[in-house]
Amino acid sequence: MSATSYINGLGRYVPPRAVSNADLEKLVDTSDEWITARTGIKVRHIAEKGQPSSDLAYEASKRALEHAGIEPGELTHVLVATCTPDSYCPNTASMLAHRLGVGTPMAMDINAACTGFLYSLEIARSLLCTYPDAKVLVTASEVLSSRTNWADRSTCVLFGDGAGAAVMTNKPTGELPFSVGPMQLRSDGQYADLLTIKGGGSATPYTLGETVREDFFITMEGREVFKQAVRNMAALCKELLEKAGMDINDVDLLVPHQANLRIIEALGNRLKIDRNKVFSNVQKYGNTSAASIPIALTEGIEQGILAKGDSVLVTSFGAGLTWGAGLLQA
Ligand code: ACO
Repeated sequence: MSATSYINGLGRYVPPRAVSNADLEKLVDTSDEWITARTGIKVRHIAEKGQPSSDLAYEASKRALEHAGIEPGELTHVLVATCTPDSYCPNTASMLAHRLGVGTPMAMDINAACTGFLYSLEIARSLLCTYPDAKVLVTASEVLSSRTNWADRSTCVLFGDGAGAAVMTNKPTGELPFSVGPMQLRSDGQYADLLTIKGGGSATPYTLGETVREDFFITMEGREVFKQAVRNMAALCKELLEKAGMDINDVDLLVPHQANLRIIEALGNRLKIDRNKVFSNVQKYGNTSAASIPIALTEGIEQGILAKGDSVLVTSFGAGLTWGAGLLQA
């Protein structure tokens, strides 16, 4: 029998520099009208050049620890979900832990692209089963702008930088603990080429002095990713609810990965959930990959949209392909 795990604190951070659709019109052949109609995105926040993921993670983590009433020194495990780590090696989690002054915890990066936060929650819960007294920091942080091809209009308008963090233990504390309920996580590598950041990896290395190629940046077959995203998230949410003996009407809030407002709406329609129960903030941040769900949960609390007693359905998809769905109880 495993104990129930709780999210006792949440935090978010986006860098101050806001880039509007009008700003992007000066960079590539695009328009506010096109971006708004196809994605819903109006603004995204972009890190300063050279500002690493660990920096954003640090700010979000400090807020989550404060929210949970836990000191960094009490943490036993630090997980960072990211597909844009500070470096290939060492991992970002070690750097974050050091900067927070955690001591010498187990520190690990998790790369499941946009599904990274849900994957990390499940790993944190497994750790809490093995070590019931553990205090686990789960941070998701992305500087996607570092791997964005600013000459490619089909991708550069979509992404933003940001971080979100959660503190997990087996004991509910603080003002709004969430119990982490059932979770379903999936991957299917046959669709790996739909969304990639390949260049510089061991399969596509660079030689000294070589100029980076286009494959160093995000490449995506947007239309196909769109279809897979809606289909997979909807099917997994339905499966999860059925296994939990719940109906979509039992869900108080759907918090989906914030990639594109049209994907969010199509998902809502497939699930037949009341529109007012679907959270979105993609308009303000763009797609922040793994960070999008913890940023959304934190905002949900700040804005009073998420309240005590709420059943929250979270779902995400991303490169891999990976996707997942889970239930949280506030
Ligand atoms: N501005 C103006 N025109 C553009 C732009 C732009 N920024 N980008 C593409 N276009 C053009 C295309 O060139 C194309 O023109 P053509 O018809 O003359 O060839 C036209 O717009 C339509 O392009 P599509 O790609 O078919 O447009 P679509 O309606 O599919 O929208 C989009 C594109 C927004 C990328 C959509 O497919 C999408 O959201 N896909 C999912 C993307 C996503 O969520 N990715 C994140 C995955 S999560 C992760 O792991 C990071």
